[in-house]
Amino acid sequence: MEIVILPDTAAIGSLAADAIESLVQRKPDAVLGLATGSSPLAIYDELAARYAAGRVSFAQARGFTLDEYVGLPADHPETYRNVIHKDFVDRVDFAPGAVRGPDGLATDIPAFCAAYEDAIVAAGGVDLQILGIGTVGHIGFNEPGSSLASRTRIKTLTRQTRIDNARFFGGDVDAVPTHCLTQGLGTIMSARHVVLVATGPQKAEAVHHLVEGAVSALWPGTILQHHPHVTVLLDGAAASRLQLADYYRETYQAKPAWQGI
Ligand code: F6R
Repeated sequence: MEIVILPDTAAIGSLAADAIESLVQRKPDAVLGLATGSSPLAIYDELAARYAAGRVSFAQARGFTLDEYVGLPADHPETYRNVIHKDFVDRVDFAPGAVRGPDGLATDIPAFCAAYEDAIVAAGGVDLQILGIGTVGHIGFNEPGSSLASRTRIKTLTRQTRIDNARFFGGDVDAVPTHCLTQGLGTIMSARHVVLVATGPQKAEAVHHLVEGAVSALWPGTILQHHPHVTVLLDGAAASRLQLADYYRETYQAKPAWQGI
């Protein structure tokens, strides 16, 4: 894992956008793995600005979102499909239908999940997966106890995740769905490059386990320690519990800028 500790979310957004811009330049039909939530917003803002400035195009790119709530009506503003369109897809030039996501209204959920896995493989696999991490250590919605080899499936959200996400539902935890469809940990591990963003003190414990803890289903993100190309982008608060923070800072400072992440 490469750990990069940056001063603020704008710096995180810019560095991740550099990696995505460079990917799409060398591979215009790249496949992006897209997370929703607060963590990737600075990346999407930066990419939208670069698109508006004519620096980058997603006209041939494809995307797969990580997860979706089960049972929210299609026109609900908090379906992850609607959120990713608002936060990113509709601000750039993806072709219609180029970004797909799990269908939280699927009637045959196992069949839908298998087809979603097949669609990712048929697209050639995810080139760059953007991730956040939950306070409980989930990536995607792979809650504690998830199989480290899991594939796209239905999961029950923990009470803590529903409390964390109540801010998107007017502060009402009971309005947050109880179930979701999520790419599995095995699905996420199949991406070629994983870029995980975490900011704020509320993420410090999860980041401590993610980077320096034992690999365990109790902290599902720890499976990424087995991935050959993971970049973890942190602000100082999220990095505050890392034992080797000084070492990570020195290592990144000594890295030639042209190498990117
Ligand atoms: C979202 C997702 C989740 C979030 C995580 C952090 O698609 O899969 O794992 O990345 O819950 O959420 P934020 O970034 O809102 O703190």
